[in-house]
Amino acid sequence: MRGPVLILGGRSDIGLAVAHRFAARGHPVQLAARDVGRLAADKADLELRHGVTVTLHSFDVLDTASHPQFVDGLTPLPQIAVSAIGVLGDQTRDEGDADAATLVLRSNFEGPALILAALANRFEERGSGMLIGISSVAGDRGRARNYIYGAAKAGFTAFLSGLRNRLAARDVRVITVLPGFVATRMTAGMPLPAWLTATPAEVATAIDRAVRWRRNVVYVRPVWWLIMAIIRALPEPLFKRMKI
Ligand SMILES: NC(=O)c1ccc[n+]([C@@H]2O[C@H](COP(=O)([O-])OP(=O)(O)OC[C@H]3O[C@@H](n4cnc5c(N)ncnc54)[C@H](OP(=O)(O)O)[C@@H]3O)[C@@H](O)[C@H]2O)c1
Repeated sequence: MRGPVLILGGRSDIGLAVAHRFAARGHPVQLAARDVGRLAADKADLELRHGVTVTLHSFDVLDTASHPQFVDGLTPLPQIAVSAIGVLGDQTRDEGDADAATLVLRSNFEGPALILAALANRFEERGSGMLIGISSVAGDRGRARNYIYGAAKAGFTAFLSGLRNRLAARDVRVITVLPGFVATRMTAGMPLPAWLTATPAEVATAIDRAVRWRRNVVYVRPVWWLIMAIIRALPEPLFKRMKI
């Protein structure tokens, strides 16, 4: 039997698409979210469609003191853990609102990094497992339009990189996912260009491939790798004149 997959951010559009992909491959699913009461229909849908067991786990990533107890409550310990947690914030508002900026920084970096760290230690002890972190191309270079969210994602990307490096010899894999734009609740109402915008199902397919092809860092639409390589290469004097 395939091992359980834990989805942190179990109500997220991307998280649920990933849950369906793993369930279709026969993995039991553990959905962790702040409000598990709203996941009853998704649990029933996953179980009915894929014939796997789905369990619901109450989880707030910002309540870092509860992380050890949360991990203890996962029986069995998952084989794969996916973090699909994130808060986009509002860059303009957050520049002048320290509390709102803190929420973005903690929700995208501190919280996800610490819960994956706790799981990593358990996986290392066991000698197997896989951690999948959904980060963002926004972390590839700080830009005026979204540098608070981008800085948090940059921290998360660096954290995943270090974790991967540390665990490479221990049979615990770490995959970093950089989705580019995705049409979800997070981006609802934003005028996103279709050619740069993936569906949650595409993200799930990219993750499924990364698992099978033993990839480490995945740009969901490969064009984003090129775009971000160009953006990273722009010299500061030119970059400062651009509002991207
Ligand atoms: N959409 C995009 O264009 C895009 C692009 C790049 C990266 N991403 C990343 O992809 C991941 C999934 O996002 P999405 O697009 O699927 O958006 P989403 O549907 O808004 O999912 C974000 C999830 O984060 C959860 N969350 C926020 N704060 C939390 C907390 N304190 N404790 C537990 N869960 C918390 C939310 O929980 P509730 O359901 O309780 O609100 C929600 O389920 C995020 O990491 C996001 O940053 C998205």
